[in-house]
Amino acid sequence: MSRTIIVSNRLPTKVLRSEDGLTFQPSEGGLATGLGSIYRADGNVWVGWPGLFVDDPTEQAHVTQQLQADSMAPVFLTENEIQDYYEGFSNGTLWPTFHYFSQFALHNEKHWQAYVAVNEKFCQAVLELAGPDDTIWVHDYQLLLLPAMLRRERPEATIGFFLHIPFPSYELIRVLPWGPQLLEGLLGADLVGFHTFGYMRHFLSAVAHLLGLPNQNGLVETADRTVLVDAFPMGIDYQRYAETAASEAVIKHERTYREALPGMRVILSIDRLDYTKGIAERLLAFEQLLKRHPEWRGQASLLMVVVPSRDQVAQYQGLKVEIDELVGRINAKYSTIAWTPIQYFYRSFPFGELVALYRLADVALVTPVRDGMNLVAKEFIACKTDQRGVLILSERAGAARELSDALLINPTDTNQMVAALHEALLMPKEEQTARMTHLQDLVRQYDVFAWTKLFMDRLAYSKIKQHLLDVD
Ligand code: F6P
Repeated sequence: MSRTIIVSNRLPTKVLRSEDGLTFQPSEGGLATGLGSIYRADGNVWVGWPGLFVDDPTEQAHVTQQLQADSMAPVFLTENEIQDYYEGFSNGTLWPTFHYFSQFALHNEKHWQAYVAVNEKFCQAVLELAGPDDTIWVHDYQLLLLPAMLRRERPEATIGFFLHIPFPSYELIRVLPWGPQLLEGLLGADLVGFHTFGYMRHFLSAVAHLLGLPNQNGLVETADRTVLVDAFPMGIDYQRYAETAASEAVIKHERTYREALPGMRVILSIDRLDYTKGIAERLLAFEQLLKRHPEWRGQASLLMVVVPSRDQVAQYQGLKVEIDELVGRINAKYSTIAWTPIQYFYRSFPFGELVALYRLADVALVTPVRDGMNLVAKEFIACKTDQRGVLILSERAGAARELSDALLINPTDTNQMVAALHEALLMPKEEQTARMTHLQDLVRQYDVFAWTKLFMDRLAYSKIKQHLLDVD
């Protein structure tokens, strides 16, 4: 039987070390939550890093056994690899470059060497698992070299690649000393997928400029193969969110929250701690709302969940300090005995409580300065079982291409964000319902299962097309 081997840097389960030993928890982030619903089907396996440095062989065996029982195969990284490949090249070079923060991007040869070596390590782990008929589906920017490495070892393999972050303008790729190698790495796949048509166009332009390979309707001719490039906007497991939102337990949670915030309008903000998410800009906009529209003082609260992330990378540490200070300043200025303007949580929430927060929110404020897709926007929509609530969404999130019934804003334009917040808080119920109904129709239809099917069908098609070209 042919299976799909999913490969990503991080597994959907992460291992934590506590006083009681090793514990297992769901991972954060769009990729893990998005694909978490589908990988267990049909004997599929997910290969990736369990998120913790484990060097003791007995512990490694324990982790492997636990994860294997849940269809996962761990790739263990050494402390140096975590530093140079994960924090270094992946999150210190590629992440800022691909999100247009190239002023933060490190260009460090040691990090690059580690990136190559870890991609090779993943390659070996996949080769040990994958049979000749298996489909290999590689995910995200940490593994850009892997498709070509796998192709070198298995010329006939079916290999798909999907990028979960933006693909930037060719001008940014040109600045990277390793740009051509990264593009060649990706072209080892049969199908390369992006969230939006815009990212796909940037990729094709980079391939044309840096490798001299033109394309025709998304088909790139390399020396020996044809590679298909296409856009696949990722969805969520809509039913899981909608059903959980309608459950007794979640309704009870929501009631508890409401009792703690009687009569309050709730503006919700949920992100991993990241400079791409526009968290500081959002706080400044909320501060301006309170300043310019004093009628919302004591009437609206910003409920802000920031999930800890990449805390060993310098920029993330600085951002945490900046956010703490901003929240402190705004709360100190506007708080009353009965009202706290910003309810700030620096932690992740269990699934049911997260869904209760989505239910509770009158407004979701999703304002990244750059974001490949942003699944939080879609999760909020799926949880609004009463079709009420307003989504304010950054036009620079991939999701904005689909969710045109949201209030779309420029995340660096404070005035526009303040106006959108005011409009959202005043929006008549009928308009909320009309917009939310459209948004739900779309997010329900193009869910994560439809996304996977579309990608897999295109991958199968690209293989058939390749075969026909070979016969010619
Ligand atoms: O979606 C981008 C992404 O980097 C995913 O690859 C990852 O699952 C998520 O963000 C969280 O990042 P990290 O694995 O570095 O915690």
